[in-house]
Amino acid sequence: MKFTAVLAMGLSSSLAAASSFKYERLDKDDAMLLVVDHQVGLYSLARDFDPTLFRDSIIAHAGIADVFKLPVVLTSSADTGPNGPLPQEVLDMFPDSPFIQRQGEVNAWDNSAFRDAVIAANKSQIILGGITTDVCTTFLALSLREAGYSVWANIEASGTTSAVVRDAANDQMARAGVNVVSMFAIAMDLMRDWRKTPGAGELIPWLDQHYPVWGYLARSHYAAVNNGTIQPGEGPN
Ligand SMILES: *[C@@H]1O[C@H](CO)[C@@H](O)[C@H](O)[C@H]1NC(C)=O
Ligand SMILES: *[C@@H]1O[C@H](CO)[C@@H](O)[C@H](O)[C@H]1NC(C)=O
Repeated sequence: MKFTAVLAMGLSSSLAAASSFKYERLDKDDAMLLVVDHQVGLYSLARDFDPTLFRDSIIAHAGIADVFKLPVVLTSSADTGPNGPLPQEVLDMFPDSPFIQRQGEVNAWDNSAFRDAVIAANKSQIILGGITTDVCTTFLALSLREAGYSVWANIEASGTTSAVVRDAANDQMARAGVNVVSMFAIAMDLMRDWRKTPGAGELIPWLDQHYPVWGYLARSHYAAVNNGTIQPGEGPN
Protein backbone atom coordinates (compact mmCIF):
# COMPACT_ATOMS: atom_id res chain seq x y z
CA MET A 1 0.00 0.00 0.00
CA LYS A 2 2.70 2.39 1.07
CA PHE A 3 4.86 1.29 -1.84
CA THR A 4 1.97 1.85 -4.25
CA ALA A 5 1.41 5.34 -2.86
CA VAL A 6 5.11 6.19 -3.26
CA LEU A 7 5.05 4.76 -6.75
CA ALA A 8 1.93 6.75 -7.60
CA MET A 9 3.55 9.91 -6.25
CA GLY A 10 6.65 9.24 -8.29
CA LEU A 11 4.54 8.68 -11.36
CA SER A 12 2.47 11.80 -10.93
CA SER A 13 5.54 13.98 -10.34
CA SER A 14 7.22 12.61 -13.45
CA LEU A 15 4.02 13.26 -15.39
CA ALA A 16 4.00 16.80 -14.01
CA ALA A 17 7.59 17.25 -15.17
CA ALA A 18 6.69 15.95 -18.62
CA SER A 19 3.74 18.35 -18.89
CA SER A 20 5.73 21.45 -17.93
CA PHE A 21 6.41 21.92 -21.65
CA LYS A 22 3.70 24.10 -23.11
CA TYR A 23 3.08 23.40 -26.77
CA GLU A 24 1.36 26.52 -27.99
CA ARG A 25 -0.46 25.88 -31.22
CA LEU A 26 -1.65 28.50 -33.66
CA ASP A 27 -5.35 29.25 -33.26
CA LYS A 28 -6.88 30.84 -36.36
CA ASP A 29 -9.37 32.69 -34.15
CA ASP A 30 -6.60 34.25 -32.07
CA ALA A 31 -3.99 34.93 -34.77
CA MET A 32 -3.10 37.83 -37.03
CA LEU A 33 -0.48 38.31 -39.74
CA LEU A 34 2.02 41.09 -40.38
CA VAL A 35 3.61 42.02 -43.70
CA VAL A 36 6.76 43.94 -42.77
CA ASP A 37 8.72 45.90 -45.35
CA HIS A 38 8.37 43.41 -48.21
CA GLN A 39 9.22 46.37 -50.42
CA VAL A 40 10.30 46.05 -54.03
CA GLY A 41 13.54 47.98 -53.40
CA LEU A 42 14.47 46.07 -50.23
CA TYR A 43 13.80 42.84 -52.15
CA SER A 44 17.32 43.05 -53.63
CA LEU A 45 18.77 42.67 -50.10
CA ALA A 46 17.18 39.22 -49.77
CA ARG A 47 20.07 37.16 -51.11
CA ASP A 48 19.65 34.04 -48.99
CA PHE A 49 16.92 32.60 -51.23
CA ASP A 50 16.53 32.06 -54.92
CA PRO A 51 14.89 35.35 -55.98
CA THR A 52 11.99 33.75 -57.86
CA LEU A 53 11.25 31.51 -54.91
CA PHE A 54 11.47 34.45 -52.50
CA ARG A 55 9.09 36.59 -54.55
CA ASP A 56 6.62 33.73 -54.44
CA SER A 57 7.12 33.31 -50.69
CA ILE A 58 6.15 36.96 -50.12
CA ILE A 59 2.90 36.39 -51.99
CA ALA A 60 2.36 33.03 -50.23
CA HIS A 61 2.88 34.62 -46.80
CA ALA A 62 0.17 37.20 -47.48
CA GLY A 63 -1.95 34.41 -48.96
CA ILE A 64 -2.02 32.60 -45.59
CA ALA A 65 -4.03 35.49 -44.15
CA ASP A 66 -6.22 35.49 -47.24
CA VAL A 67 -7.04 31.76 -46.89
CA PHE A 68 -7.65 31.86 -43.12
CA LYS A 69 -9.27 35.32 -43.07
CA LEU A 70 -6.79 36.55 -40.47
CA PRO A 71 -6.56 40.24 -39.61
CA VAL A 72 -3.56 41.80 -41.37
CA VAL A 73 -1.45 44.85 -40.72
CA LEU A 74 0.84 45.96 -43.53
CA THR A 75 3.77 48.25 -42.98
CA SER A 76 6.51 49.78 -45.11
CA SER A 77 9.51 51.94 -44.38
CA ALA A 78 10.21 55.20 -46.27
CA ASP A 79 8.50 53.83 -49.35
CA THR A 80 8.95 56.91 -51.52
CA GLY A 81 12.73 56.41 -51.29
CA PRO A 82 14.93 53.58 -52.51
CA ASN A 83 13.08 50.99 -50.38
CA GLY A 84 10.14 51.37 -52.77
CA PRO A 85 6.50 50.33 -52.37
CA LEU A 86 5.03 47.03 -51.24
CA PRO A 87 4.29 44.69 -54.17
CA GLN A 88 0.96 45.60 -55.76
CA GLU A 89 -0.13 41.94 -55.57
CA VAL A 90 0.09 42.13 -51.78
CA LEU A 91 -1.63 45.52 -51.53
CA ASP A 92 -4.44 44.23 -53.74
CA MET A 93 -5.09 41.31 -51.37
CA PHE A 94 -5.87 43.60 -48.43
CA PRO A 95 -7.49 46.82 -49.63
CA ASP A 96 -9.24 47.32 -46.28
CA SER A 97 -6.42 46.38 -43.86
CA PRO A 98 -4.42 48.95 -41.94
CA PHE A 99 -1.31 49.93 -43.92
CA ILE A 100 1.19 51.89 -41.86
CA GLN A 101 3.73 53.73 -44.01
CA ARG A 102 6.54 54.51 -41.57
CA GLN A 103 8.61 57.58 -42.33
CA GLY A 104 11.69 56.71 -40.28
CA GLU A 105 11.25 54.11 -37.57
CA VAL A 106 13.35 51.02 -38.29
CA ASN A 107 11.53 48.87 -35.73
CA ALA A 108 7.83 49.02 -36.68
CA TRP A 109 6.94 48.76 -32.96
CA ASP A 110 8.43 52.26 -32.46
CA ASN A 111 5.60 53.65 -34.60
CA SER A 112 2.50 54.40 -32.53
CA ALA A 113 0.05 54.00 -35.45
CA PHE A 114 1.47 50.54 -36.11
CA ARG A 115 1.28 49.57 -32.44
CA ASP A 116 -2.31 50.83 -32.29
CA ALA A 117 -3.26 48.80 -35.39
CA VAL A 118 -1.78 45.61 -33.92
CA ILE A 119 -3.40 46.18 -30.53
CA ALA A 120 -6.77 46.97 -32.18
CA ALA A 121 -6.78 43.54 -33.87
CA ASN A 122 -7.02 42.07 -30.34
CA LYS A 123 -5.12 38.85 -31.12
CA SER A 124 -2.45 37.23 -28.98
CA GLN A 125 -0.66 35.26 -31.72
CA ILE A 126 1.26 37.09 -34.42
CA ILE A 127 2.69 35.63 -37.65
CA LEU A 128 5.24 37.78 -39.44
CA GLY A 129 7.77 37.98 -42.24
CA GLY A 130 9.89 40.88 -43.42
CA ILE A 131 12.96 42.22 -45.15
CA THR A 132 15.50 42.07 -43.67
CA THR A 133 15.36 39.09 -41.32
CA ASP A 134 17.99 40.46 -38.94
CA VAL A 135 16.55 43.99 -38.71
CA CYS A 136 12.90 44.43 -39.70
CA THR A 137 11.72 40.98 -38.65
CA THR A 138 13.93 40.39 -35.60
CA PHE A 139 13.57 43.85 -34.03
CA LEU A 140 9.80 43.69 -34.31
CA ALA A 141 9.57 40.06 -33.18
CA LEU A 142 11.58 40.86 -30.03
CA SER A 143 9.43 43.91 -29.27
CA LEU A 144 6.28 41.82 -29.74
CA ARG A 145 7.62 39.17 -27.36
CA GLU A 146 8.42 41.88 -24.82
CA ALA A 147 4.87 43.22 -25.19
CA GLY A 148 3.50 39.77 -24.33
CA TYR A 149 2.57 38.38 -27.74
CA SER A 150 3.26 34.88 -28.99
CA VAL A 151 5.14 35.17 -32.25
CA TRP A 152 5.61 32.92 -35.29
CA ALA A 153 8.34 34.02 -37.71
CA ASN A 154 7.77 32.58 -41.18
CA ILE A 155 11.37 31.73 -42.10
CA GLU A 156 10.55 31.63 -45.80
CA ALA A 157 8.99 35.10 -45.82
CA SER A 158 12.01 36.89 -44.35
CA GLY A 159 15.15 37.47 -46.37
CA THR A 160 18.55 38.98 -45.75
CA THR A 161 22.01 39.31 -47.22
CA SER A 162 23.51 35.92 -46.38
CA ALA A 163 22.90 32.58 -44.71
CA VAL A 164 25.19 33.45 -41.78
CA VAL A 165 23.21 36.63 -41.04
CA ARG A 166 19.90 34.78 -41.37
CA ASP A 167 21.01 31.99 -39.03
CA ALA A 168 22.17 34.43 -36.33
CA ALA A 169 18.87 36.34 -36.57
CA ASN A 170 16.75 33.19 -36.41
CA ASP A 171 18.77 32.00 -33.39
CA GLN A 172 18.28 35.34 -31.66
CA MET A 173 14.53 35.15 -32.21
CA ALA A 174 14.34 31.54 -31.06
CA ARG A 175 16.18 32.43 -27.83
CA ALA A 176 13.48 35.04 -27.21
CA GLY A 177 10.79 32.38 -27.54
CA VAL A 178 9.77 33.20 -31.11
CA ASN A 179 8.52 30.16 -33.05
CA VAL A 180 10.89 30.18 -36.03
CA VAL A 181 9.00 27.99 -38.48
CA SER A 182 8.28 27.18 -42.12
CA MET A 183 5.38 28.49 -44.15
CA PHE A 184 3.96 24.96 -44.46
CA ALA A 185 4.09 24.53 -40.67
CA ILE A 186 2.18 27.79 -40.18
CA ALA A 187 -0.51 26.83 -42.69
CA MET A 188 -0.94 23.33 -41.27
CA ASP A 189 -0.97 24.53 -37.66
CA LEU A 190 -3.71 27.05 -38.51
CA MET A 191 -5.70 24.39 -40.38
CA ARG A 192 -5.09 21.49 -37.93
CA ASP A 193 -7.50 19.12 -39.69
CA TRP A 194 -8.12 18.69 -43.43
CA ARG A 195 -11.85 18.24 -42.74
CA LYS A 196 -12.25 21.72 -41.27
CA THR A 197 -13.04 24.95 -43.08
CA PRO A 198 -10.58 26.25 -44.16
CA GLY A 199 -9.42 22.70 -44.89
CA ALA A 200 -8.62 20.64 -47.96
CA GLY A 201 -10.92 22.65 -50.24
CA GLU A 202 -9.23 25.96 -49.41
CA LEU A 203 -5.69 24.79 -48.68
CA ILE A 204 -5.06 22.54 -51.69
CA PRO A 205 -5.39 25.46 -54.15
CA TRP A 206 -3.00 27.53 -51.98
CA LEU A 207 -0.57 24.61 -51.84
CA ASP A 208 -0.85 24.12 -55.59
CA GLN A 209 0.21 27.73 -56.11
CA HIS A 210 2.91 28.01 -53.48
CA TYR A 211 4.01 24.55 -52.38
CA PRO A 212 4.18 22.52 -55.58
CA VAL A 213 5.73 19.45 -53.96
CA TRP A 214 2.32 19.04 -52.38
CA GLY A 215 0.19 20.65 -55.07
CA TYR A 216 1.63 18.54 -57.87
CA LEU A 217 1.22 15.42 -55.76
CA ALA A 218 -2.46 16.32 -55.49
CA ARG A 219 -2.64 16.89 -59.26
CA SER A 220 -1.01 13.53 -59.86
CA HIS A 221 -3.48 11.85 -57.53
CA TYR A 222 -6.35 13.61 -59.27
CA ALA A 223 -5.14 12.58 -62.70
CA ALA A 224 -4.65 8.97 -61.62
CA VAL A 225 -8.09 8.71 -60.06
CA ASN A 226 -9.86 10.67 -62.79
CA ASN A 227 -8.33 8.99 -65.83
CA GLY A 228 -5.30 6.94 -64.83
CA THR A 229 -4.17 3.68 -66.35
CA ILE A 230 -1.95 1.24 -64.55
CA GLN A 231 1.15 0.60 -66.61
CA PRO A 232 2.77 -2.80 -67.05
CA GLY A 233 5.18 -3.35 -64.15
CA GLU A 234 3.36 -0.97 -61.73
CA GLY A 235 1.83 -2.44 -58.60
CA PRO A 236 2.62 -3.63 -55.11
CA ASN A 237 5.16 -6.16 -56.29
C1 LIG B 1 -10.68 40.85 -27.34
O1 LIG B 1 -10.76 39.45 -27.45
C2 LIG B 1 -11.29 38.80 -26.31
C3 LIG B 1 -11.30 37.31 -26.59
O2 LIG B 1 -10.04 36.86 -26.93
C4 LIG B 1 -12.68 39.30 -26.02
O3 LIG B 1 -13.16 38.72 -24.82
C5 LIG B 1 -12.70 40.80 -25.91
O4 LIG B 1 -14.02 41.25 -25.80
C6 LIG B 1 -12.05 41.44 -27.11
N1 LIG B 1 -11.95 42.87 -26.94
C7 LIG B 1 -12.35 43.71 -27.87
C8 LIG B 1 -12.16 45.16 -27.54
O5 LIG B 1 -12.83 43.37 -28.93
C1 LIG C 1 -8.59 10.01 -70.58
O1 LIG C 1 -7.36 9.88 -71.27
C2 LIG C 1 -7.52 9.57 -72.65
C3 LIG C 1 -6.10 9.32 -73.22
O2 LIG C 1 -5.28 10.47 -73.04
C4 LIG C 1 -8.24 10.72 -73.36
O3 LIG C 1 -8.45 10.40 -74.71
C5 LIG C 1 -9.57 10.94 -72.66
O4 LIG C 1 -10.21 12.07 -73.23
C6 LIG C 1 -9.39 11.14 -71.17
N1 LIG C 1 -10.68 11.22 -70.51
C7 LIG C 1 -10.94 12.11 -69.55
C8 LIG C 1 -12.29 11.99 -68.91
O5 LIG C 1 -10.15 12.97 -69.20
